[in-house]
Amino acid sequence: MKMMLEELMQKLKTNMDEKRFLHSLGVMKTAAELAACYNADVKKAEIAGLLHDCARDMDIEHQLKMVEYFGILLDDIQKREKVLIHGPLGAVTAERDYGIADEEILNAIKIHTTGDADMSMLDKIILLSDFIEPGRCYPGVEDLRVKAFIDLDDAIIGAFDSTIRYVLSKGSLLHPKTISGRNFILMQRESEGRA
Ligand SMILES: [Fe+2]
Ligand SMILES: [Fe+2]
Repeated sequence: MKMMLEELMQKLKTNMDEKRFLHSLGVMKTAAELAACYNADVKKAEIAGLLHDCARDMDIEHQLKMVEYFGILLDDIQKREKVLIHGPLGAVTAERDYGIADEEILNAIKIHTTGDADMSMLDKIILLSDFIEPGRCYPGVEDLRVKAFIDLDDAIIGAFDSTIRYVLSKGSLLHPKTISGRNFILMQRESEGRA
């Protein structure tokens, strides 16, 4: 089953609230712009951006049932910070319910909430678009929007910093992949003399 973008939108709309749907459209648009800016695949960026939160509005009981049904292994942090589940569950949902077979798209959806070490260009585009889509409003978002189109890695570091600060301010658990993701880019920049 291969759905066109329009069909994916119609289906997604029935699986989330209005606000989340508008956010998804915003991420789709920003992801397409970033992909065009960095010579990445615009179509893949659109699809991954649109569907990144496709499991986000399922109620948590249902999410946990799906996790069990699909045999998704949750780590200790994901078991406690349940908002993180919609990443890996979203990838499985995009594959099963929206007919997405492309591994790059599925991986970008899977890791969009935590980030990861050694992210692909598409992974970075989706993570960042989620942060800076037009509907987002928080101190520093304008800076990040500008940075995103100048230096993708620099903007990703900004997004990680902002996530880490937010998690600390809430006294929540910090996912190790967020740290690995941030460290990876910093070390890579250092070794390339771009630090
Ligand atoms: Fe999300
Ligand atoms: Fe999102």
